[in-house]
Order: sequence, then structure tokens, then C-alpha cells
Amino acid sequence: MMRLELPIRTPRLTLRDFVASDFDAVHAYASDPEVTRYMFYGPRTEAETRAYLDRMLRTQRETPRTTWELAAVRTWDARLVGACDLTLEQPFEADLGFIFARDAWGLGYATEGACALVRAGFDELGVARIFATCDVANRASARVLEKAGLRREATLDRHKHAKDRWWTSFLYAVRRAEWIDSNVGHGLPTAD
Ligand SMILES: CC(C)(COP(=O)(O)OP(=O)(O)OC[C@H]1O[C@@H](n2cnc3c(N)ncnc32)[C@H](O)[C@@H]1OP(=O)(O)O)[C@@H](O)C(=O)NCCC(=O)NCCS
Repeated sequence: MMRLELPIRTPRLTLRDFVASDFDAVHAYASDPEVTRYMFYGPRTEAETRAYLDRMLRTQRETPRTTWELAAVRTWDARLVGACDLTLEQPFEADLGFIFARDAWGLGYATEGACALVRAGFDELGVARIFATCDVANRASARVLEKAGLRREATLDRHKHAKDRWWTSFLYAVRRAEWIDSNVGHGLPTAD
């Protein structure tokens, strides 16, 4: 069954569905040009953040649900510091992503969120493959994907046109069997 038990708790984060009142916290990072530098969109205007949030709220009610764009809330102070997402591109394959506020970078949050979503994708959604793409210059993102157990499989040469340029990205992926073999993610402690 394609279902994720929410919230997902990691040692320091609570990954939960967005609510409308998350607007300010989301806009704070989505409007930061440094944060959206390697995203195909942004920096977002207030109207664009509003439209994005509305879209995410709608995806929560879709059946079958295929998008889990989750707020990453730092558990101890309840601050929304970013987002991690899994999107089913086909029933057996999910696209992984993450974005965090600049003042929350470098603390391991993206790795923690990505590892938890990889595990949830395989264990709960039962997908066979999880993949992600990141701009070839986005070193932090590539590192997070590697730490979450994904492997660089290909370079997608000028595959996407956005923000007035062609983007060349790395394709990262991991299959369920490899992930189980490598044990990556299994050592991740849970908050319980
Ligand atoms: C990518 C991003 C989510 C990483 O978040 P984070 O919480 O800082 O990531 P973590 O702290 O878990 O890990 C970052 C890793 O990248 C490394 N890193 C960070 N900046 C780096 C850089 N410029 N060059 C090389 N490595 C870098 C860190 O050293 C760390 O690896 P380490 O643990 O081996 O030292 C964050 O930078 C971000 O939100 N960027 C903007 C949005 C984005 O690009 N999202 C991904 C789209 S594909």
C-alpha cells in the first residue's frame, strides 16, 4: 500500500505535512536567492510561495497520494527549517529532494531527512528505486545524496531549460536491493 506514516521522526527533525500557517517559514527560505540558486525556480515571490504551498496542500488529499513534500521541523524548538520530499514518478519509483534555510545548513539536517525518506520510501511505500537529480555544481546536495546511499549513475547533459539557461545535472539513484545490502540508513537511530 502506497502510504507513509506521518509524522516521520528523525533524531532531531519531525517531517510532517505542510499546513497553511507555514507560509512565513517557507517563504523565508524560498525567497532566498542563495537557497534557490540550484533549483529550477525562484527566488520565489510571495505569490509564488503561496501557489506552491497551495499545491502542496492539495497533493495531501490526492488519492492515490503520489507526493510527500514534507515540512522539516526542528523538534526541540518547533522551527520549520526546510522541506524534504518524495514523489512517486511511477508506482515503483520515487524522486527525492530537499531544501533548507541557509542558517540551518551544515548541521546534517538534510542528510537526516534524506536518510529517513529513503528508508520510508523502501520500507513503507515499497518502491524499488529512489532517484534524485542535482546540478553538477551543487556539491552539498551531491554529498547529501551520497550519504543517503544514492550513487551517481549519469550526467544529464543540458537536459532542462530553466531560469534562462540549460542545466546539466547528475542523476543519483539507489535500488532497494542495493540499499538493503549496503545497510545505509539502517543504523539511523530513531527518536523513539
Ligand atoms: C543541499 C542542502 C539541502 C544541504 O543541506 P545541509 O543540511 O546543509 O546538508 P548536511 O549538513 O546534511 O550535509 C551537507 C554535506 O555537504 C557538504 N558540503 C556543504 N557545502 C559544500 C560545498 N560547497 N562543497 C562541498 N561539500 C559541501 C558538507 O560538508 C556535508 O558533508 P559532510 O558531512 O561529509 O561534511 C542545502 O545546502 C540547501 O538547502 N541548498 C539549497 C537547496 C538545494 O540545492 N537543494 C537540493 C536541490 S537538488
